[in-house]
Amino acid sequence: MSDKDKMGIDRREFLLNGAALAGATALGMLPSGLALAQSARVRVGLMLPYTGTYAQLGVAITNGLKLAIQENGNKLGGREVEYFTVDDESDPAKAPENANKLVQRDKVDVLVGTVHSGVAMGMVKVARESGTLLIIPNAGADAATGPLCAPNIFRTSFTNWQPSYPMGKVLADRGMKNVVTMAWKYGAGEEAINGFKEGFTKAGGKIVKELWLPFPNVEFQPLLTEIASLKPDAVFVFFAGGGAAKLIKDWQAAGLKGKIPLFGSGFLTDGVLDAVGDAAEGMETTLHYADSLDIPKDKSFRLAYAKTFKLQPDVYAVQGYDAGQLLVLGAKAVNGDFGKKNEIIAAMEKAVIDSPRGKWTMSKAHNPVQDIYLRKVVGKENRYVSVAHKALADPARGCKMG
Ligand code: PHB
Repeated sequence: MSDKDKMGIDRREFLLNGAALAGATALGMLPSGLALAQSARVRVGLMLPYTGTYAQLGVAITNGLKLAIQENGNKLGGREVEYFTVDDESDPAKAPENANKLVQRDKVDVLVGTVHSGVAMGMVKVARESGTLLIIPNAGADAATGPLCAPNIFRTSFTNWQPSYPMGKVLADRGMKNVVTMAWKYGAGEEAINGFKEGFTKAGGKIVKELWLPFPNVEFQPLLTEIASLKPDAVFVFFAGGGAAKLIKDWQAAGLKGKIPLFGSGFLTDGVLDAVGDAAEGMETTLHYADSLDIPKDKSFRLAYAKTFKLQPDVYAVQGYDAGQLLVLGAKAVNGDFGKKNEIIAAMEKAVIDSPRGKWTMSKAHNPVQDIYLRKVVGKENRYVSVAHKALADPARGCKMG
């Protein structure tokens, strides 16, 4: 869609009118220059997966973000909002081009995305080069708030290290010594396994074998056969979305359920319980959200989300919602003037987000400092069990900011 379709006037006309209006303002014919800035809509670029194994995650994030902005009267800093959307297909190869469509063609004020760590790395590159404000509502790529951290890059989700690390101690405390890991072989899988390994080996555990599948492959059978013959005390995995649902079903079909305990970061069981029947019952995971938190903000969020979208929210919806909340408070600090980037950044750095997951703060590297919960699948819920790690901050290794 061209700018003309979207704005009713084309960009050149808009700029010319802008110059005329600015002149009028200078002559005292209009109340303020701000009237012009505020008359245009805030341009929010959403770059998320809407097809493929992470499609549902992209939808949940979009819903959550729009709900937060809707609760603010559908405005950011007093201005109407216009969304520009790109399906990134979870394809890292297309990421820079897709991000540039939003930044250069659509001239978005802020870029929001994405789910897949490899795609997020492309967005980080574009954000660093263009200076565009970027809010990451899922992808855990450690580097985004590590060596590649930047003032204009924020995350409202987690680092891949963060939800996996605490599970190491949980398993070691249960006397488990030998664990097999399995994950998709790409940034998120590798970093999630590293996080678990760090926590587990520090607590005395041993990784007996690391098994990998290329993303988004779901041919689990040969690996399950290998696991059955290795007979470890437990298996720790990173999978999410459609792939996670398939693994849970295959695990049961292979007769491993009830024989070898399967653990993971909570992406394994979030947003997939409707799809897997009873195959996930009893599974324990660690994550920064759970379905039964006794938090007033969570109760109101869940009600509003279910009413608006006729769907139950999950961790992805929460992360999208918090990206929306962060944007609302950043825009409010500058009265909707997105030209005042340093002031938006300063407000976002000080943010205390009243999240459905519990209140969290922004680390110096711009990543949430948050509680990680141990949860257990009961029926269609990832039920809260305990706090596995209180106020966990990612170590942000390599980040030179702050
Ligand atoms: C990631 O690629 O960073 C990623 C994807 C899906 C998840 C979690 C992390 O559920």
